[in-house]
Amino acid sequence: MADAIRLCYHQPDFAIIAREQYLDHAARNLTSMMRTVFWDYEDDTVKMIDQRLLPFVLEVAEFDDYREVARAITEMYVRGAPAIGASAAFGMALAAHQSRAGDRETLIKELEQAAETLNAARPTAVNLSWAVNRQLKTAHSEQSESVSDIRHALLDAAQKIADDDVQLNRRMGAHGAELVSDGATILHHCNTGALATVDWGTALGVIFSAHEQGKNIHVLVDETRPRLQGAQLTAWELQQRGIPFDVIADNAAGHFMRTGQVDIVLVGSDRTAANGDVANKIGTYKLAVVAKENGVPFYPVVPTSTIDLNLAEGDLIPIEERSPDEVLCVAGNRVAPDGASARNPAFDVTPHRYVTGIVTEAGIIYPPFVKNLRAAVEKEQGRT
Ligand code: MRU
Repeated sequence: MADAIRLCYHQPDFAIIAREQYLDHAARNLTSMMRTVFWDYEDDTVKMIDQRLLPFVLEVAEFDDYREVARAITEMYVRGAPAIGASAAFGMALAAHQSRAGDRETLIKELEQAAETLNAARPTAVNLSWAVNRQLKTAHSEQSESVSDIRHALLDAAQKIADDDVQLNRRMGAHGAELVSDGATILHHCNTGALATVDWGTALGVIFSAHEQGKNIHVLVDETRPRLQGAQLTAWELQQRGIPFDVIADNAAGHFMRTGQVDIVLVGSDRTAANGDVANKIGTYKLAVVAKENGVPFYPVVPTSTIDLNLAEGDLIPIEERSPDEVLCVAGNRVAPDGASARNPAFDVTPHRYVTGIVTEAGIIYPPFVKNLRAAVEKEQGRT
């Protein structure tokens, strides 16, 4: 029988003792000093928590080549729209650092090549191209002819993207916490916490803020098949912070909403179109429809860097299709028969009619979204 159990992709080995040590180490680091992705100024490398190994192993991966950063995004060492954006920004800084170009023109050509590679890493999260384009703009607008000055400018700009992310997540958390009443049960999908951002989080950041305010809350954590970001990452983050939760099968969410056991649904977004249509982790659309049917408010929590005013509606958002193996296997073990095929869209689009409001760092945005989202984006662009 053992022969029939086949591993589909790398699954971490773990020993219980190691696991406890790691969790303890992780609790101290994640809540105090270690960001999901950061530049190590000691050795000029990009470092990121390898999220494929959590919750059992906390390991930090190190990158000294921007192509490897792109691969880490594709293979989901790092995931979550804002964390992908910050990783790509550091990837551009790394490309500049690696470069042996002797003049400005050559360096900029190399950066354009790096931008292409990084942009191709994953298609749905707009934060990726947002950060890469911002880095290209930084390079082009640097007045100095010195290659070294351009390198420094790119690193400073990446660091600012990362620092701003943490700060604006705190602002979103404070706005969103107003929606969470004492005693509330919150339904959450995927992972939108410190691990999906540079630190703190978007939808999970709202939950952390409500908890920090002393509200007594409970979270229903969608396990989030196929990659189980809810069961593996969100549950881990909630546990680190001592917030009460239950992991539920994705299929149970409708039951909990219909029986009046959910007060609010909070999710993230990988790209939100100008009209308020929200692309997020596969399964979000189903949640939003059931929430509306049952009168449960549905709020995506979305930094303005995730709002794509260039796209009029959600149907224009590119949806990533990932490997069928993610569906044919559960936690690394093959469950479908040999020869079975699978479809694996990683995201879906929730039309704005199901969206009660959108929490941003500029405040909570309500319909009409076309007008109000644009105003929020412009307000935030004016701050940077
Ligand atoms: O495929 P993932 O794990 O990168 O998907 C992440 C999500 O869908 C999140 O909800 C989204 O990035 C927004 S949260 C910061």
